[in-house]
Amino acid sequence: MTVELAVVPVAGRGTRLLPLTKSQPKEMLPVGRKPVVQYVIEELTRCGLTKVLFVTGPGKTAIENHFDIDGELIAHLRETGKEELLEELAFERENVEYFYTRQRRQLGLGHAVLCAAPVVGGQPFAVALGDSIIGLQAQSQVVRRMVEVFESRRADAVIAFEAVPRDEVVHYGIAAPRGPVAEVFELADLVEKPAVDQAPSHWAVAARYVFSSAIFDCLRQTKPGKADEIQLTDAVRLLIRQGGKVLGVPLPSGERRFDIGNFASYFEAFAAFALADAQDGLALREHLKRMLCD
Ligand code: G1P
Repeated sequence: MTVELAVVPVAGRGTRLLPLTKSQPKEMLPVGRKPVVQYVIEELTRCGLTKVLFVTGPGKTAIENHFDIDGELIAHLRETGKEELLEELAFERENVEYFYTRQRRQLGLGHAVLCAAPVVGGQPFAVALGDSIIGLQAQSQVVRRMVEVFESRRADAVIAFEAVPRDEVVHYGIAAPRGPVAEVFELADLVEKPAVDQAPSHWAVAARYVFSSAIFDCLRQTKPGKADEIQLTDAVRLLIRQGGKVLGVPLPSGERRFDIGNFASYFEAFAAFALADAQDGLALREHLKRMLCD
């Protein structure tokens, strides 16, 4: 059974980005020309996925509106002779089906994924965190590669990893690889946000996963962990302990995860995307050079 559906959890409140996120979802924050979540969906569709299930929560209707076809806006652009701007709305007509479900209680990422179970059923699926962009302009093909590995190795889960500095392991799910880290490696364990001196490696979960539906049973058995939340990492850990085959795929060199979860990394992401902008990037670069030299 091939992987065609991606679950995109977008229910988190984004409290680390207040006041920006008081009345708008963090997934709708601009990074260069587009909101974060548009990059995520474009990445997934480029990787061959055709169905997206958003797990939403309070205050997230802007995401649904963004992916709807806005007939009024299209008509307005035509009537006012701004046809060239229709190109900016081309993403609305991508060959993607959208589904929405709600996480009715804020019980953590693992719980958000479990909310998708009635829609996902027994099919394999990807999970892409809605506040993380992979690769500059989201050009990453890592999910396509993860799906290939999932199918060819008959895995129960494939997870993307990124090497992080040792002192940053406290922010991530961290892999305990069974052997050396190669293009594909097996996991012996996965630990959510370990202390620096207890981290089994510096390979951090990078916001993309592919799962068989076996993860749902593990999630149902997972008790609240770090931050008193039901952690996806803890369910993966259980999957490994029950004999599931869980594989890791490192992000290719030159590709990184842009995290829109806190101000420092949001600023970095915006700067990187604005500087890479085909139309205005060069002028911004010159402007910044002058600013920094003054
Ligand atoms: C979540 C996961 C963590 C992962 C991170 C980035 O943490 O729980 O394992 O490494 O996303 O993909 P959060 O950033 O929601 O605290």
